[in-house]
Amino acid sequence: MSSSSSSYCTVIGLFLAFLLGGSSCNGQLTPTFYNETCSNVTSIVRGVIEQALLTDTRIGASLIRLHFHDCFVNGCDGSILLNNTDTIESEKEAAPNNNSVRGFGVVDDIKTALESACPGIVSCADILAIASEASVSLAGGPSWDVLLGRRDGTTANRSGANLALPGPSETIAAIKLKFSNVGLNTTDVVALSGAHTFGRARCLTFGNRLYNFTGVGDSDPTLNSTYLETLKGICAENGTGTDLTNLDLTTPDAFDNKYYSNLQVNEGLLQSDQELFSTTGEDTIDIVNNYSANQTAFFASFVASMIKMGNISVLTGTQGEIRLNCAAVNANATSGSDGLLHSSI
Ligand code: HEM
Repeated sequence: MSSSSSSYCTVIGLFLAFLLGGSSCNGQLTPTFYNETCSNVTSIVRGVIEQALLTDTRIGASLIRLHFHDCFVNGCDGSILLNNTDTIESEKEAAPNNNSVRGFGVVDDIKTALESACPGIVSCADILAIASEASVSLAGGPSWDVLLGRRDGTTANRSGANLALPGPSETIAAIKLKFSNVGLNTTDVVALSGAHTFGRARCLTFGNRLYNFTGVGDSDPTLNSTYLETLKGICAENGTGTDLTNLDLTTPDAFDNKYYSNLQVNEGLLQSDQELFSTTGEDTIDIVNNYSANQTAFFASFVASMIKMGNISVLTGTQGEIRLNCAAVNANATSGSDGLLHSSI
């Protein structure tokens, strides 16, 4: 940017800061965005999550996944939080999300707490970004300064969610492509997959690896045989597929680098996890080995990739809105299809 356009940006930015109660210019997010307007935002979000963790050890994992599924579809604009209406086809019902993503009630609780402390200031998209950092650090992972100033979108994109979100049985090439479509590279794929260091997955997301990997009643040869038997004990061959197991069998609720050492001994749960280490010739193998040997390197990469992911196609300045209810755009805040003012799941 030239110095004249940058000083123009500063003047406009200051004017917008005055009008909008924050500081943002040309799509730039900043960690100080709410310093003057909602200075306790981080501790408020963290407090609600700490409370939720007391009864739901999985909630942090669920919240960071919401941020990921938000950012990959129309950018980080809170679109995943919107309910169906006459004009909105919710992303919640896209195949990768339906009966899978969770945590909407806690997002609502965070929004309620923030509306009480600083009404109309903090976007739902920013709530997901702040909640992700809080969830990771509360589980023993790294802390970082979250970049803020996102505004909320006014539409959802269900077909976009069906296309853009990676699936657990996809090839590594397909997953890399989906990441590169939103500006993320191979290192980002490996580092962000490390979020599978906590949380759960349903049997139907990896059941083919146990009972019918290539259509002849076989199992995935890259699955450790003891782990295979354990998983068969959890997931019945003709079961509903809705039973849950830990994504990280070693330290299920801790945010650490055990996810990568699991891959080295063929104990990745999802096919897409194990492929990062087991696909011959892939450039992901060295990265897995590095993160497995060096948790500090993993944490540094994870933070850098989370910041990149959190920057995908953000709305700032006069774009979008600050939703009052994360489940509905402001114009429809009282007329969601279920007539409810909460996210309902
Ligand atoms: C690389 C491609 C990825 C694929 C194929 C993938 C796939 C999945 C699947 C299938 C599940 C289980 C869903 C279910 O049981 O219904 C899951 C859970 C999860 N994913 Fe991913 N994921 C990927 C990347 C990521 C990224 C980038 C993040 C975050 C930065 C993430 C965070 C999580 C978390 C924390 C859970 C557990 C959620 C909970 O317990 O509620 N995933 N993922």
